[in-house]
Amino acid sequence: MTMARATGRSTAPAEQPVSKSQVIMNEMVLPNDANALGNVLGGHVMHLMDMCAAMAAMRHCRRVVVTASVDQLSFHHPVKVGELMSLKSSVNYTDRTSMEVGIRVEAEHPLTGERRHTSSAYFTFVALDEQGRPTPVPKVAPQSEVEQRRFRAARKRRAARLALREEIARADGETG
Ligand SMILES: CC(C)(COP(=O)(O)OP(=O)(O)OC[C@H]1O[C@@H](n2cnc3c(N)ncnc32)[C@H](O)[C@@H]1OP(=O)(O)O)[C@@H](O)C(=O)NCCC(=O)NCCS
Repeated sequence: MTMARATGRSTAPAEQPVSKSQVIMNEMVLPNDANALGNVLGGHVMHLMDMCAAMAAMRHCRRVVVTASVDQLSFHHPVKVGELMSLKSSVNYTDRTSMEVGIRVEAEHPLTGERRHTSSAYFTFVALDEQGRPTPVPKVAPQSEVEQRRFRAARKRRAARLALREEIARADGETG
């Protein structure tokens, strides 16, 4: 795909099911990506999460997207050199030009197949038009009970983020 095609008019319909945005990415952890303990570096995991989440956002809106913010990024367990990492992402929620993408990372032992949940986060992406300005995205249509629960939770996170921003701006105004 050329960049000219990528920055052209969006081909997405006005509304999309969550399933249209789903991405699964698999990686093997190599020594170059690890610290002296043989655990994968947090920054490497964050890079992979950003890529996997961005692909879900692009699949949803068929636009160039930029990462606007990341919420609740957590590392529950380390991932070891030689393990497989599986990243799954999909769009949880959309507003006018922004989309929240949820992402979950699991580590898998290559010999036993045993898996554990190692990281998760919520990325907000903004879709850009041909001039690099924020542009409207299709609405996401959650269908299953899980998708509807994620949609409601994402809407609350957005409301909380905006409320916090207003509260800080108000407090800054009061203190000069
Ligand atoms: C994200 C960005 C495009 C927003 O531009 P802006 O001029 O502030 O645009 P607006 O104020 O019109 O907001 C556009 C949307 O972005 C959302 N947004 C802006 N800043 C945000 C933030 N920090 N977190 C989450 N959403 C944000 C707004 O809520 C709005 O969403 P909505 O249309 O769904 O309501 C701009 O800040 C930007 O380009 N940031 C850098 C992105 C980047 O380079 N990312 C890679 C990091 S290295």
